[in-house]
Amino acid sequence: MSTSKAQILIDTNRTIAPISPLLFGGFAEHMGRCIYEGIYDPKSPQADERGFRKDVMEALRDQTYTTIRYPGGNFLSGYDWLNGVGPRDQRPRQRELAWQSLETNQFGTNEFMEFCRSIDAAPMLGVNMGTGTIQAAADLVEYCNVSHGTKWSDLRIKHGVQDPHNVRYWCVGNEMDGPWQIGHLDAVSYANKALEAAKMMKWQDPTIQTILCGSSNDQMPTYPEWDRTALEIAWEHMDYLSMHYYAGNRKEDTASFLASAVLFERFVDSLEGTLRYVKAKRRSKHDIYLSWDEWQVWYKGDPVQGKWEEAPHLAEEIYNLEDALVVAQWLNVFLRKSHVLKIACVAQIVNVISWLHTRPDGLLKHPSYYAFKLVSNHARGDALDVHVKAPALETKEYDAVPTLDVSASYNAETDEGAVFLVNRSQTESVPTDLVWQDGQGLAIDKAWQLAGSDPKAVNSWESPKQITAKSISVPTVENGRATINLPPLSFTVLTTCPS
Ligand code: AHR
Repeated sequence: MSTSKAQILIDTNRTIAPISPLLFGGFAEHMGRCIYEGIYDPKSPQADERGFRKDVMEALRDQTYTTIRYPGGNFLSGYDWLNGVGPRDQRPRQRELAWQSLETNQFGTNEFMEFCRSIDAAPMLGVNMGTGTIQAAADLVEYCNVSHGTKWSDLRIKHGVQDPHNVRYWCVGNEMDGPWQIGHLDAVSYANKALEAAKMMKWQDPTIQTILCGSSNDQMPTYPEWDRTALEIAWEHMDYLSMHYYAGNRKEDTASFLASAVLFERFVDSLEGTLRYVKAKRRSKHDIYLSWDEWQVWYKGDPVQGKWEEAPHLAEEIYNLEDALVVAQWLNVFLRKSHVLKIACVAQIVNVISWLHTRPDGLLKHPSYYAFKLVSNHARGDALDVHVKAPALETKEYDAVPTLDVSASYNAETDEGAVFLVNRSQTESVPTDLVWQDGQGLAIDKAWQLAGSDPKAVNSWESPKQITAKSISVPTVENGRATINLPPLSFTVLTTCPS
């Protein structure tokens, strides 16, 4: 069945902002099987000589992650980084309180840096603002970023790492507004501590960029007051405000779930307003941008407490088609908000709340893996302010929303572009006219689609390719116009080049 037509108006001069490469980041936490059995799995036939999983690294490289945030998460707020460096046989086995698991410390800061280099991603480190001191935070910057000749840089060299890691992005704590956080603080206490930590960290290395903890989600009772308060105190010492959000189809209302982009945009809009307010109030010339450094679908209710086991199976969410279509919209929102959103990290990159699952001898990719890969590989240059005229779809949560959720990019240097289109309808295909208002000399060179008839369809070990991104026939462009029929429950990506 098809519904009335849609029209997408694109003009490569109508730009929003350059797309920050750091929007295609990931998050790796010492939680469940993300680090152990995900990244580091020396007993696996897939392990290289360092114990890193080759199949996982290949999949991550295919997704072209630009940055990886580490080591947590809630784990961060009880972590002493010194336990994770130096000779492996001298590192402590510990009870890890955030996830009630057993931490062996066999993977720590230097292994993480090695891993980042292997997948060509920039490291983003967190410093502990729960049990940690501002001194320990500054010491870690010295350990990582000072070349030699000081206590902590020389310790790094003694640990076999001659060259500094030059870590540029630093999260000053994690979700410090949450009562679940080890060492949770109120906004004023946190911001004062974060400011002093950031001051010392930047004295160690003035080139670093710091990320202030914002609200853990938009339902926190302290949201958005937490953000305003923390920003007002720490403004001049911070470069980004973090935001976290986990989406879910908790009410079994797929129509509303498939309109989640509305909520994502509102969240960004509110925090953008908060940033503008604080900047004005402080009469500041300094700018702070948003870092959505935890985002993902997460609601299916797997255990999150590890019963003091090593690498327990925690939050190993199985993602289906509707989850992938929400991920695609999330990425559309990143592009549409690229003037204020500069960093984003999907939580997490493997096994835990992840679209990649390992077993000793294999790797399973869930549908949303392909949605991310398409956008991270093709959104380049500037985000475009696309005008969408699409039939409306009624939802319980958000009233009427456009059936299509769309973003686009254009790289003026290469004259190449991309259009990302989600059809949220569960039943109707949408014939869509694409109009490049300035694109007389343009062609579509490739087209892919991730689609299915059942929103709950999944990939499994037995049937791993049920839902993947498939190449589809390329619509012809004539005089800057093309028509494509977008099936229900689909994500379509078109790339353009000069004709
Ligand atoms: O990513 C899993 C957890 O979710 C993180 O540790 C925490 O920051 C968030 O609540």
